[in-house]
Amino acid sequence: MLPLGGQRSGGSHKRGGTHLRRRAVPRRELLPLGGQRSGGSRKRGGTPMTTRRHSEPILSARGIVNRFGRQEVHDGIDLDIERGEILGIAGGSGSGKSVLLKTLTGLHRPNGGEVLLDGKSVFGIGQTEKASLIGVLFQQGALFSSLSVAQNIMLPLREHTKLPPEDQERIAAMKLELAGLKADAGIKFPSELSGGMIKRAAFARALALDPRILFLDEPTSDLDPLIASGIDALIAQLNRSLGITVVIVTHDLTTLFTICRRVAVLVDKKITVDTLEGLRRSRQPWIHEFLHGPRGQGAMTARKQSHGIG
Ligand SMILES: Nc1ncnc2c1ncn2[C@@H]1O[C@H](COP(=O)(O)OP(=O)(O)OP(=O)(O)O)[C@@H](O)[C@H]1O
Ligand SMILES: [Mg+2]
Repeated sequence: MLPLGGQRSGGSHKRGGTHLRRRAVPRRELLPLGGQRSGGSRKRGGTPMTTRRHSEPILSARGIVNRFGRQEVHDGIDLDIERGEILGIAGGSGSGKSVLLKTLTGLHRPNGGEVLLDGKSVFGIGQTEKASLIGVLFQQGALFSSLSVAQNIMLPLREHTKLPPEDQERIAAMKLELAGLKADAGIKFPSELSGGMIKRAAFARALALDPRILFLDEPTSDLDPLIASGIDALIAQLNRSLGITVVIVTHDLTTLFTICRRVAVLVDKKITVDTLEGLRRSRQPWIHEFLHGPRGQGAMTARKQSHGIG
């Protein structure tokens, strides 16, 4: 079981105003940001990961086109997700972030293009194999209201494994704890949870099968700043200690600035992928305003503090 260091430890701090600000995840909780491709020379379990296979992207999307009727949402999106990275996906409301996430996870078949997961089409692999590779936290949580929290977490275990019920219950309790909920939250129904608890319960369910890639759609939206910081710390910790690759759709600049190594921005049906430093040099008006506006400046300050700069 992983400790949840930092989860509730973030005190509120005021800086440059009276608003409660998000606590940035300390630098030590992050992956190295040295710019090198992840997986290339990192060691896991003492074995150098130097084979060509492990330096290839874990997921690769090419030429993705999505349309709904006459509305074109994506017009030729290319995206590589590197093993072990935390990639943010940003963009205005309605720019197609959730549709892209559903496409990358094989839940939405695009009008054009392909998505390769570990070299195989995400639309061709079996449900059980896919469930063992991919965990998804949907924007609205998407818990089944007629099932308790524990039953929701056990659902993928029931569907995709032959584990006996007592092992499923044990794993559900472990995942609840991992997501920062008390084991007794398991007997509650989704309607009895706060917004933050729903996010954590959905998080626990996404982790049920120990996926290699975790896709999170707005994991910190509508949460108070301390809980949001706890979720950021949890994501960074899962990434660091278990090596899980994480893709986060978010508007939350603090999340983008403190835990993401690279960020993909959707604007005008196209995608731009770069480090935040690179994106901050972009002349694209939406990207410039997003990163250099007052909230972007505040998040940049938090990033510098968490990295021990300035
Ligand atoms: N199943 C669907 N049928 C028709 N249109 C859809 C469907 N799913 C998404 N869209 C449209 O695609 C566009 C992009 O939607 P999407 O949910 O990806 O936006 P988003 O970037 O996630 O926005 P937000 O930040 O508000 O969550 C929207 O105009 C939406 O109405
Ligand atoms: Mg969305």
